[in-house]
Amino acid sequence: MVRVARRKAGHRLPPARHLAVAALAVVLVCKLAFGGDGDSYYKYKYNADTSTKDASASPARGGSPEVSPVSFRTPLAYGTKSLKERTGELVATAISEGFRHIVTGGHHSSHNETGVGHGWKASGLGRSELFLQTCFVPFGNRADFAPDPLDPEQAPESIEEQVRLSVSISLKNLQTDYLDALVFHNNKAKRWADDEIRRAWKVFEELVDEGTVKHLGMTSVHDPEWFETFWNQSRIKPEIVQNRFHSNRQYDVNMQEVFRRHNTQVQRFWLLNGSSRGGRRSKDEAEARGVTPAQLMLGFVMSMGSQTCLVGTKTQQHMRDDVEVARCYPSLFWEAGSAGDTERAGSDEARVSYADKLGMKQPGDRPLPGPDEAARGAMDYRPCRSAAR
Ligand SMILES: NC(=O)c1ccc[n+]([C@@H]2O[C@H](COP(=O)([O-])OP(=O)(O)OC[C@H]3O[C@@H](n4cnc5c(N)ncnc54)[C@H](OP(=O)(O)O)[C@@H]3O)[C@@H](O)[C@H]2O)c1
Repeated sequence: MVRVARRKAGHRLPPARHLAVAALAVVLVCKLAFGGDGDSYYKYKYNADTSTKDASASPARGGSPEVSPVSFRTPLAYGTKSLKERTGELVATAISEGFRHIVTGGHHSSHNETGVGHGWKASGLGRSELFLQTCFVPFGNRADFAPDPLDPEQAPESIEEQVRLSVSISLKNLQTDYLDALVFHNNKAKRWADDEIRRAWKVFEELVDEGTVKHLGMTSVHDPEWFETFWNQSRIKPEIVQNRFHSNRQYDVNMQEVFRRHNTQVQRFWLLNGSSRGGRRSKDEAEARGVTPAQLMLGFVMSMGSQTCLVGTKTQQHMRDDVEVARCYPSLFWEAGSAGDTERAGSDEARVSYADKLGMKQPGDRPLPGPDEAARGAMDYRPCRSAAR
């Protein structure tokens, strides 16, 4: 049996922080009820998966009768890595600024899943108004695994039992009875042992059958043949892949075809702190478009379609900027014409020039991916409001 030797110190909110979170909840409820603009991003039509829409939106949300789409098929999600003891407060703030998809990690040494539970509860929104995603970290993953305070003294050895235990603890930490998405966590772009992934996945599938989990995914998949085989052999398919967007994996150009074929939603990390240098190489271009370099960088990734930018900002203004660009990004690269007009002269030139600056090499015979025509028709072309600072 694998022994759980360590307990994570400071993983739970201390009593004083409970009070702070409760106070924050009151402020947020007031803000949402009396004109908070957190809904604006969700009035945006593109990629809205209506299958999980909730008709009984919380009375806390103000103004618009419009119902928010709650889905992983949206351009932006809030990642909770390294937020530590500020996790609850920052998740509540992110939700008040318009984020609805929160990405955390059970048994992940850099995530405070309990804090996420406190944060969404403090937001004043109902459970069905949020998309909560967590991951399963194999207990033998020395780089990323950390024990949870709720672990039994003897941790289970088989990966099947580890999945069951991890999910049951995630449900408690997140104060919920279902997970919108569960992702298998691979270690730093190296896949976990094949046999173990498949055995764990069978339990993932059972959890979907049981209604505990709604969607499945995996992190760090950079081999198209492997993913094709895995996809074909899975009874319940991976719908989400969480990958870095980085030059050291050639920005996943080799994965584009397999992702397109299987309608995979690709969650991107290392967008602003990786090889893109936060888009700072395109400072002038960003200024000309009235956005910040970080916004232009995120907008570029969003423009490729079926991409979710994972950001974990601790700065409220950056939260606003990120939510704003998720709403207006089509205007950054497809300026001409009205929605539904598929002939936008010069549009792809701007994107290709941006990709070139990143060093993202598309094969000569393959255009840069973009949203499909149906999605383009549904896009909202309003310009970005935030001026570059
Ligand atoms: N699967 C994996 O192995 C893996 C690995 C890493 C990350 N992730 C996921 O991806 C999420 C994001 O992590 P990340 O490593 O990509 O970094 P990040 O947490 O998004 O932060 C990157 C940097 O971007 C800044 N930032 C965010 N929005 C900005 C804006 N609008 N303007 C200027 N700066 C901005 C942040 O600074 P401020 O705080 O000041 O805004 C921060 O310094 C994580 O929370 C996690 O969920 C997954």
